Amino acid sequence: MQLILAKIYPYVLMKYLLTLLVFCICLCHSQGQSCEIDGVYHSSFEDVKSILNANNCNSCHGNQNSIGGWNYDTYESFLLNGDCNKKMILHGDASNSYFYRKLGGVDACGESGENNHIFSSDELSQIESWINFGAPELCVSLYNDIRLTLDENGCNSCHANDPKSWRYDSYLNMIDNDLDDNCSESIIIVKGNSSSSLLYDKINNDGSVSCGDPMNSESGPMSENDVSLIRDWINSGANETAASLPVILTNFSAVDIQGEIQLNWTTEIEIATDKFVIERSQTGQNFESIAELSSMGSSTIGHEYVMNDPKPIIGDNYYRLKIVDLDGSFNYSNIRLVRYKSGESIITVYPNPAVSRERITVKWLPRADEESTYLNIVDVNGQNLHRKIIFEGTNYIRLPYLLDGVYYITVEDLFGGFLLERVVIIN
Ligand code: HEC
Ligand code: HEC
Repeated sequence: MQLILAKIYPYVLMKYLLTLLVFCICLCHSQGQSCEIDGVYHSSFEDVKSILNANNCNSCHGNQNSIGGWNYDTYESFLLNGDCNKKMILHGDASNSYFYRKLGGVDACGESGENNHIFSSDELSQIESWINFGAPELCVSLYNDIRLTLDENGCNSCHANDPKSWRYDSYLNMIDNDLDDNCSESIIIVKGNSSSSLLYDKINNDGSVSCGDPMNSESGPMSENDVSLIRDWINSGANETAASLPVILTNFSAVDIQGEIQLNWTTEIEIATDKFVIERSQTGQNFESIAELSSMGSSTIGHEYVMNDPKPIIGDNYYRLKIVDLDGSFNYSNIRLVRYKSGESIITVYPNPAVSRERITVKWLPRADEESTYLNIVDVNGQNLHRKIIFEGTNYIRLPYLLDGVYYITVEDLFGGFLLERVVIIN
């Protein structure tokens, strides 16, 4: 008996190990490449694609479907603007990227009106972090990875240590732009913007460089993967170390609690943080500081923070945290939007006068927990000429053909009331 077992055992073990290996490969593959730096996960384009596929976005925007003039079949096509021609991705700046604004319901231009463009808040914040980390295609790199990549490409044979020309032997030398050469007008690395960076311009093999000659490695042009790695590194802020990456806060939330906006956040690891400055904006741009909270001190388990905004603005309130370290350096958190409602619902319509057949913008801020309502365009005789569903927030409505004159835009509300806005139409 013992003899038989000894004979079978290695086979069983081998089979077991093989199954484990196959299982592992499948699992890792299906999860895309998640990338980790110092215990913090960063998404890559693969992760984002998985989220989109899981939401069936590919039925209209993938597998060569390009409804709305946009698809995500490749990273390049993902970055291009669609029919609305709004900047799809601003690397490092989710709150101004149309992709994030559309899926978060803050901005819209098309009138699809269905529920195709709504994400769960978890997925939305993963996408938000991804864009804030530069919306990289691959894993986020740090300076050392990039230096090695350049070395592997033989760039050091000409750019090693001649102090008069560009060299990358240290981080500061690499980003130093104060060189006395033909390309002194160009900036070697514009953090967060690969397309304005001379380094990327020199290596991206697109057939044109804004200054001097394209830089090839010893063995010919750099590989696509190396070029992408450097592009992503620049777009993610050209960071030197993990410490200069933006801090990730878990559960950063902003909610309306009886007329005050309560902000909550948790830090995972806190090292040498000085304070949190709470900033607010009405548009998602031009933030102003409204309060400060000191750090509870360094800790490897993190802390929980709560802060109230007693006087929110009626309408949109965007919040973000400026996380200031003891040495004065700082990072920003993701942005949270709270629509603060007054006792009445509000509409604004512009432009006014508006042009017949053109688009108008209608902002609707409902009073109760209404999400949609009807908008009517009524002439001075009370005749209803156009009826359309609108949603909380900003709506874009194409006017029908209307004769010159005065009209009323009305919005019905849950309580049987009406909001009226007088609009002059011209042709
Ligand atoms: C049933 C088809 C359909 C599905 C499913 C769908 N969309 Fe769309 N999408 C459209 C249409 C139609 C437009 C153009 C009108 C508009 O912007 O609403 C559009 C526009 C867009 C745009 C803007 C392009 C531009 O610049 O005009 C983005 C970005 C987008 N969709 C992303 C997504 C994502 C992400 C998903 C998955 C959560 C998704 N869509 C699911 C039909 C769809
Ligand atoms: C055979 C020598 C040689 C090699 C190898 C080389 N370069 Fe260059 N590089 C130059 C010269 C000469 C210039 C300045 C003239 C020009 O811009 O064409 C330059 C300029 C540059 C500049 C612009 C600096 C400035 O301000 O003008 C960058 C960035 C650059 N190279 C990057 C690289 C990278 C990345 C690699 C590796 C893929 C590389 N180079 C490989 C010779 C080389």
